[in-house]
Amino acid sequence: MPPSQDSMNGTEQNPLLEMENGSASGPRASGSSNAQQYTGFSRIQVLSMILAQLLSAISVLLALYWAHLLGGLSWQTSKQAFNWHPVMMVIAFAVMTVSMISFRLKYMPTRSWAKRVHYMGWLVAALCATVGLIAVFHSHNAGYNGYIANMYSLHSWIGATVILLYLGQLVVGAMTFLGYTPAWWSRILERTHPSTILSIHYFLGPVVYCGTMATILLGLQEKEKFMECSYSNILKRPDYLPFLHFLDIPWVCRVSHFLALGIFLTTLCVIIALHDFQRGSHSYRRDRAS
Ligand code: HEM
Repeated sequence: MPPSQDSMNGTEQNPLLEMENGSASGPRASGSSNAQQYTGFSRIQVLSMILAQLLSAISVLLALYWAHLLGGLSWQTSKQAFNWHPVMMVIAFAVMTVSMISFRLKYMPTRSWAKRVHYMGWLVAALCATVGLIAVFHSHNAGYNGYIANMYSLHSWIGATVILLYLGQLVVGAMTFLGYTPAWWSRILERTHPSTILSIHYFLGPVVYCGTMATILLGLQEKEKFMECSYSNILKRPDYLPFLHFLDIPWVCRVSHFLALGIFLTTLCVIIALHDFQRGSHSYRRDRAS
C-alpha cells in the first residue's frame, strides 16, 4: 500500500505518528532515552527475553526434526507437503516473538530501529504463515491419495480467527504508525483520542500472539490424533506411575510434546518480559495510602 498524499504532505493529521516520532507528549513519546526506557526492568525480565528467543529457536529446530520424522519436506506427496504447514507456522511464531519484544531489546540502537524490526517481523511472519497455509490446502486438495476435507477442525477455526485479527492489527498498524495513512483513516484518527488507538494496539498484540500459541497447540493435538501416542496396549495393571512409562510414549510423540512445551514456555517468557510488574506495587502503595 503506497503512502497517501496526506501522509507525504505532513504528519499533523496523524497524531499517533507525531507521538511515535517524538513530536507529541505522551507515555510512549520517544523523548525518553534508551536508558530511561529500560530502567525499572528486573533481571528476570531481561532473562525472559533471552530465554524467549532461545526457546523459540529450539522450537523451530524441533519442528524441523519432527517434520523429518514424519517423512520430510517436499511438495511431491500429500504427507510431505503437509509437513511444511507446522514448520512454516512455527517459524512465523518465532519471528513474531522477536517482534513482540523488539521495543524491549537493549541492543536496538534507537526507537525507530525497534519500530522497523517490530513491523518487519510481523510482515515476515505473515509471509511464512501464507506459505504454511498454502501447504496445508495444497496437501488436502492436490488429490495425491484422494481428497481431504478443509476447515473441519477446531484448530482450523481458531487459526482462521487469529489470522483475521492478525491482518487487522497489521493493516491498522501500518496505516497508523508507519505513515501509510489514507485520508479516510486520518479523519478517523483526528476524531479519536491517540491513547485509544494505542491501547487497542497494545491489547491486540498479545491477544494475537497468545492466539497463535493456542492454535499451534491445537494443531499439534490435531496431528497427534492420527499418530499412535498412547501405550495402553502394553498395560497389564492400572497406570498409577505414568512417568515410569515415559519411554513407552513413541519418540515422534515425545518430540511433538516437547515442541508444544517449547511454544508454551516461549509465550510465558514473552508475557513475563512485557508485563508491567511496577503497576502492582503502585496500586499497593495507593491502597495503603487511602
Ligand atoms: C499459527 C499457527 C497455525 C495456524 C494459523 C493454522 C491454521 C490452519 C488452518 C486455517 C487450517 C485449515 C486448512 C485446511 O483445512 O486445508 C489448518 C489445518 C491444519 N493444521 Fe494448522 N495452523 C497452524 C499451525 C499448525 C501446527 C503447528 C500444526 C501441527 C501439525 C497444525 C496442524 C494442522 C492440521 C492437522 C490441519 C488439518 C485439519 C483441518 O484442515 O482442519 N497447524 N491450520
